[in-house]
Amino acid sequence: MKRIAVIGTGYVGLVTGTCFAELGNSVICVDNNERKIEMLRAGTAPFHEPQLAELIARNLRAGRLSFSTDLAAAVRAAEIVFIAVDTPTSEDGRADLSAVRAVAASIGNALDRPKVVVSKSTAPMETGELIASLIAENSTDHHHVAVVSNPEFLREGSAVADFMQPDRIVLGTNDRAAEAIMRELYRPLNAPIVVTDIRTSKMIKYAANAFLATKISFMNEIANICDVAGVDVETVQRGIGLDHRIGTQSMRPGIGFGGSCLPKDLQALEKIAAGRQYEASLLSAVAGVNRRQIGRTCDKVAAALDGSVTGKTVAVLGLAFKPDTDDVRGAPALLLIERLLSAGASVRAHDPVALEAVRAQFGDRIVACERMYDALRGSDALVLATEWNEYKTVDFARVKTLMRGDAVIDGRNLFDPAAVVAAGLSYTGIGRRKAAATEVEPQPPREQVEPQPPREHTRAS
Ligand SMILES: NC(=O)c1ccc[n+]([C@@H]2O[C@H](COP(=O)([O-])OP(=O)(O)OC[C@H]3O[C@@H](n4cnc5c(N)ncnc54)[C@H](O)[C@@H]3O)[C@@H](O)[C@H]2O)c1
Repeated sequence: MKRIAVIGTGYVGLVTGTCFAELGNSVICVDNNERKIEMLRAGTAPFHEPQLAELIARNLRAGRLSFSTDLAAAVRAAEIVFIAVDTPTSEDGRADLSAVRAVAASIGNALDRPKVVVSKSTAPMETGELIASLIAENSTDHHHVAVVSNPEFLREGSAVADFMQPDRIVLGTNDRAAEAIMRELYRPLNAPIVVTDIRTSKMIKYAANAFLATKISFMNEIANICDVAGVDVETVQRGIGLDHRIGTQSMRPGIGFGGSCLPKDLQALEKIAAGRQYEASLLSAVAGVNRRQIGRTCDKVAAALDGSVTGKTVAVLGLAFKPDTDDVRGAPALLLIERLLSAGASVRAHDPVALEAVRAQFGDRIVACERMYDALRGSDALVLATEWNEYKTVDFARVKTLMRGDAVIDGRNLFDPAAVVAAGLSYTGIGRRKAAATEVEPQPPREQVEPQPPREHTRAS
């Protein structure tokens, strides 16, 4: 059993603290947001994350988990202090480290004996040195502090499961005693552990997110080419995904990636490279494809509505940046809604859990509906933006009776195009062949229509 303080009770900090308590440790979770801490003390999770509320309640009851705004007391009570505060994008595109700096200085002020301080926040290479120097500058007694970097890879929507069954744990430290403490802490998870220096561990996190973003933009680019080439991306996806070197995960085309991590970390990595006179052109292209994907989706909505969304009513289903979370930070659905509104459309919107956050952002500029079918009433188009499970079983016959128009734009390739068309609606996916065309006039294989010249011949010409 270890005594742990976790500073920052957001998606990462709260899941980390709660899961370490569940593993038998004594954990104090700290935040400077008093309202959040009050909610947590009352046993209420401040955001939607599967399994989290039950784990908080159980560990509060067991006395292993507590919540506080008193950072100094929590630091003094702990042998391991995790920093899990936010590192948003600053104005120049770099990671804003002001919360990390403030917490490191406060840890220094509170330091009463040697400790392990673990940075979980995603931050640039030099953050380890920054934390160590801020703690040293702000402490009077100069106790030994071992700084460890332990980047987090959990995904919102499956954060507890990801934390408890990680693919790997990454530890960045040169301090052997701290490494041993961290290995012992993570031993119950039985996961592979990669130990490296702090700078490399920070790069591992950025590289992982940049790669995931690249996969998504790659598939979106291929889907866009499939759209113009009249090829079905689903089959292409399966055809390439069965190759073990490529795989099927994070390979679904859609309206683009969002959230509080991928766009910010991609940009931060580009800035890290630029600051060292290296132009990361692949990363810029990945971001560019992602930005354009929203515009392409708007174009699809307009095309399905005879060329323009002005004066039309569009129902947007799924507003959180991904299913199973209420986090709308950087959500592509919200970017899409902004575009639709500025093009003169009216928007009705539904999400199973994120409506409150969306109402806070849009106010009465949109109609936020508690029930999905209400969002569809009188709408000219339905746009699926986030693939919540409950949208998998949409009754399109009912949708047809509620909508004024018939356009269904499936921004996540979730619906069965044939079922949409069978209900008398029109279907547009991302890189998918139109259902009606496939059913009514199957295309002959391409070789029969336009025989290709032999390869050597093509090269010679
Ligand atoms: N959200 C994810 O899916 C995810 C996954 C992996 C890594 N990360 C990284 O983890 C870090 C945290 O992300 P998050 O999504 O949990 O952030 P978040 O915004 O949800 O939570 C951060 C919390 O820190 C608190 N905080 C800020 N300054 C504080 C201070 N001085 N003292 C006490 N509390 C303070 C805030 O009030 C907030 O509750 C970021 O660097 C992020 O990039 C996030």
